[in-house]
Amino acid sequence: MQDLPQRIAEAADLVTVALDELLPRGEGPEARLTEAMRYAALGPGKRLRTFFALETGRMFDLPDRSLLRTACALECIQAYSLVHDDLPCMDDDDLRRGRPTVHKAYDEATAVLAGDALQTAAFEILAHPDTHSDGSIRAELVSKLAQAAGARGMAGGQMIDILGVRDLGRVARMQRLKTGALIACAFELPLVMARAMDAERHAMLAFAHDLGLAYQIVDDLLDADGDAKLMGKATGKDAAKGKVNFVTLLGVDAARERLGVLAKQTKTHLDPFGKKAEFLRASVDFVLERRN
Ligand code: IPE
Ligand code: IPE
Ligand code: MG
Ligand code: MG
Ligand code: MG
Repeated sequence: MQDLPQRIAEAADLVTVALDELLPRGEGPEARLTEAMRYAALGPGKRLRTFFALETGRMFDLPDRSLLRTACALECIQAYSLVHDDLPCMDDDDLRRGRPTVHKAYDEATAVLAGDALQTAAFEILAHPDTHSDGSIRAELVSKLAQAAGARGMAGGQMIDILGVRDLGRVARMQRLKTGALIACAFELPLVMARAMDAERHAMLAFAHDLGLAYQIVDDLLDADGDAKLMGKATGKDAAKGKVNFVTLLGVDAARERLGVLAKQTKTHLDPFGKKAEFLRASVDFVLERRN
């Protein structure tokens, strides 16, 4: 088996090159907008959603060429969500991926517009025939991504985050929406492209949902005790802002314990896929042990 961090780095390089080709370059006054979009999307993200989409699609022998377009769409939504998440009216953060946030490098209006245009770019990329030759599949991809990003997905979860939650059940729901939905989508879109069978979809999505929840708990743990330099974003923000999540509610040790239980459960969902899912299985530990 190839080294997992190397395989993730390769996926990151591939999607960054593809995004560079697909994202618009503006002339005239719009150039400020397209530059801000490119600044947000081409920055050094971990590209884990890309890795998940590529690995899932490869299990079904889909070509990298079309999977990468799907990965670009996911990364556009991811970049947009972060640009808006960092705005002063949301989390008010100055640093992202080791660089000034978009509203700091440009200005707030440009950041709002860059987020907007990254969001629509995602759907433009998916809807193009190069993503999949079958128009009904493309329509399903667009619909699934819209659901994952919208009011019953990421944006809805962000609303709950802003309003605040008090109990663990609601925290889990918020996490599933704000972070889990887009992560699950990274698995679901390749399954749609491959016309996977229902049983395969169910098993893979059960895996994706647990992984998505684990992903945000790790993010919250890193906010509490991570190394800001390694992460390229500020730490200690959640407690300072009174945010309620697994870590601020249960404490670091109890949150870590829950994460261990969740990780075991997560991996069992991959049992039906056997050796084909070895990279995805290994990625659970990678997500849990990540330091950035
Ligand atoms: C950060 O996501 C926000 C969350 C949803 C936890 P990532 O940790 O995947 O950020 P990048 O894309 O690698 O910068
Ligand atoms: C953000 O969660 C989730 C998104 C949908 C962008 P956080 O607000 O905890 O993400 P970071 O810590 O700023 O990356
Ligand atoms: Mg936030
Ligand atoms: Mg934030
Ligand atoms: Mg966070």
